[in-house]
Amino acid sequence: MSEPQPPQPAEQTAAATAAAGRPTQEGTPVAPEQAVGAAQVGVIGLAVMGSNLARNLARHGHTVALYNRTRARTDALVEEHGHEGTFVTTGELDEFVGTLERPRRVIIMVQAGAGTDAVIDALLPHLEQGDIVVDGGNAHFEDTRRREARLREHGLHFVGAGISGGEVGALEGPSIMPGGSRESYEALGPILEDISAKVDGEPCCAYMGPDGAGHFVKMVHNGIEYADMQFIGEAYDLLRAAGLGTTDVAEVFRTWNTGDLESYLIEITAEVLEQVDARTDRPLVDVIEDAAGQKGTGRWTVQSALELGVPVNTIGESVFARATSSHPELREAARQALTGPDRTLEPADREQFVEQVRQALWSAKVVAYAQGLDQIRTASEAYGWDVDVAAVARIWRDGCIIRARLLERIRSEYAAHQLVTLLEAPSVREELARTQEGWRQVVAAAVTAGVPVPGFSAALAYVDSLRAERLPAALVQGQRDYFGAHTYRRTDDEGSFHTLWSGDRSEVRV
Ligand code: 6PG
Repeated sequence: MSEPQPPQPAEQTAAATAAAGRPTQEGTPVAPEQAVGAAQVGVIGLAVMGSNLARNLARHGHTVALYNRTRARTDALVEEHGHEGTFVTTGELDEFVGTLERPRRVIIMVQAGAGTDAVIDALLPHLEQGDIVVDGGNAHFEDTRRREARLREHGLHFVGAGISGGEVGALEGPSIMPGGSRESYEALGPILEDISAKVDGEPCCAYMGPDGAGHFVKMVHNGIEYADMQFIGEAYDLLRAAGLGTTDVAEVFRTWNTGDLESYLIEITAEVLEQVDARTDRPLVDVIEDAAGQKGTGRWTVQSALELGVPVNTIGESVFARATSSHPELREAARQALTGPDRTLEPADREQFVEQVRQALWSAKVVAYAQGLDQIRTASEAYGWDVDVAAVARIWRDGCIIRARLLERIRSEYAAHQLVTLLEAPSVREELARTQEGWRQVVAAAVTAGVPVPGFSAALAYVDSLRAERLPAALVQGQRDYFGAHTYRRTDDEGSFHTLWSGDRSEVRV
């Protein structure tokens, strides 16, 4: 995570002062009538994400206009954090808009859905040609496409910007995935790049493409996040089944975090596992109900993948695993009815088993990235976005929830090669050749012991399906032709064919 640049209060004060025609005091909130046209950016919606983003902008020396439906939030923000930069506090939307320099840059940080449309409706009458409205929430990319088209008719730019990194990221440097017109990026990009995380000085923010591209990329980011979390859960479950205590597993994750698997999610996993419940003195993870929730971005990823016809089975399994966990009645009925192995894993060499689980985790993770990036590439073609996959990997290297050492490798592979799939990238395929033996052993051991590994096994099935010379899809085509005359194509001839199954079973060209 990058350090925020020191604020430049002198400059901000000068801007506000010039507009106001009177001296302002550093750290003192500026009243709207004293800052007409002086704020570089405005933030609407000051819940935690919005507040933190506004503070991040102010800390980087931008004068930030603030608006929240209830004024108390705005006041609380400046009271607590006003000293971090220059804020213009407003209580009415027209006032808010009036404080912004042209073209206006308005960032909406409200809960995705109807709230965003309501804010846009209220804003519209106050905006003018060329102004830029940014939606920084987790909006569905189709909503973003709709909103972009609507605002374009009014001569306005609508930017759907995926912002990842949670509350801390919003404050200290998130990964930002903006979509919309290129022209709007000229005016907006420098500010967003400024407040984003940095890797060796490179911002974790880049233009993703027109209309819904940014929110699409963020959606897939979340899909990969779901898969990554599921794999980590499976690794934990396997290590526990092999007899490691929770603290030992935490230690394993800590060690893994010093190598190829280094990532934010592995780091926080160790911390969660180390947490002891004050009430019971047991590991907290043992007293948390084992029912995983979701707000829906993982589900959207899979829904979109189904429509695009892109196989993202690891993300699908992770969404279904959460659903399975959240059906207590179903689980209870099955638990009573079904028998099977008792989850005991007794590896001959525990250390070797831990290494095999690491290999399975790394391999599955690579597959999830391969699938997510394939989905982005396919959507980019379908929607005409021209998304640069190397840029996606580049801006995911820090700030976001799935930030990981692996992303630098992915970035450089995409930058150096034209890849159909990440799995063919030289360093990835070499590593997969090394890790696959351990990965297979782990899946086999898990299946034998009755430990569910939907993520690890889906990833492996994907790899084996792609590797196969021939797939049983040929038989499926034969069946479809049998009952529905759906026709098939031959390996040795052009065109479509049908066998007269209920007749003399001769073949006709159709
Ligand atoms: C991020 C996160 C963030 C969030 C999602 C997913 O990138 O900062 O992905 O967007 O945690 O809301 O949460 P669910 O697991 O609830 O779907």
